Amino acid sequence: MEKFIDLRSDTITLQTDEMRSAMFHAEVGDDVYGEDMTVKRLEKIAAEMLGKEAALFVTSGTMGNQLAIMTHTKRGDEVIACSGSHIVLAEVGAAAVLSGVTVRTVDDENAIMQPEDVQALVRGKNQHFPDTGLICMETATCLGTVYPLPVMAEIYGLAKAHGIPVHLDGARIFNAAAALGVDAGEITRYTDSVQMCLSKGLCAPVGSVLAGSAEFIEKAHRNRKMLGGGLRQAGYLAAAGIIALEKMAGRLQEDHDNLKLLAKGLSEIKGIQVNMRQTEINMVFADIGGTGLEQQYIIDKLLEKGIKANDGREGNYIRFVTNHGVSSKDIEYVLDCMREIIET
Ligand SMILES: Cc1ncc(COP(=O)(O)O)c(C=O)c1O
Repeated sequence: MEKFIDLRSDTITLQTDEMRSAMFHAEVGDDVYGEDMTVKRLEKIAAEMLGKEAALFVTSGTMGNQLAIMTHTKRGDEVIACSGSHIVLAEVGAAAVLSGVTVRTVDDENAIMQPEDVQALVRGKNQHFPDTGLICMETATCLGTVYPLPVMAEIYGLAKAHGIPVHLDGARIFNAAAALGVDAGEITRYTDSVQMCLSKGLCAPVGSVLAGSAEFIEKAHRNRKMLGGGLRQAGYLAAAGIIALEKMAGRLQEDHDNLKLLAKGLSEIKGIQVNMRQTEINMVFADIGGTGLEQQYIIDKLLEKGIKANDGREGNYIRFVTNHGVSSKDIEYVLDCMREIIET
């Protein structure tokens, strides 16, 4: 198989040998009967790392987020979220379909909601208004930014003052934790529930975890069954998830360091602009508007040189996401190729 430098996403990461071995040897049972000890162990470890009472293994980040929305809200409620968030942009309108809620959005160029903007959208009691049933934050964001903890604290504080629950889409919470230099539990102090993905930069093949209070997770467990998410011998997947949490969450800084190299190099190429605020984790959006070249032309040329990248966002951008399969030497090669394609 031809080897590519694959910078399209961190979801393309393959499993480590340790994961494959753990999967092969996993102790499994029927998890719907509550008999899969590996799933139980993953959920316990995840709950501890996320600073919550309990956790639930789910098939995907989307399922984790949608289960949270379903479990926190009632039909007709309104959810406040950022217009650039995954829940709003990339979950097929599921909140409306599955939970019967509407979403009221906050705009922000860095996908970080400001407390005053959230406050302005909270509904007062009025027979005409929907109830504000949930506030959703996302960190790290799909734009490569991370919520400052004081912003999260303020949003959480105002939510509590109004009796509104808070959910965090923490698909990349360990990237956010690495960027902030804190444990994930420092971030989840400011949310009632959190979803985190095992299958992105952490290299597990499948799965996410939803965490929260024991009471919340008990209700979410029932909703998971309703959505067809009750799995049987899921321990094979959970075994990889345990390695993801115990071995891979701590290495993400390496991806961030590679990203910084890449972002700096790209920003020095004539015609490319990089918003450095949006390089806090493992992704960079290169604005190629000033090069005079078409997005697809550059992507095709990169592919000819063994490099995969994505458009990944509306506008004249190419997105690069560093991950476990990419070294600092690969980054130097990518930069050489970009210079060659654009400057010659
Ligand atoms: C911020 C964020 N949330 C949720 C998801 C959904 O995860 P999944 O693809 O596992 O459904 C993604 C996936 O890219 C994401 O980036």
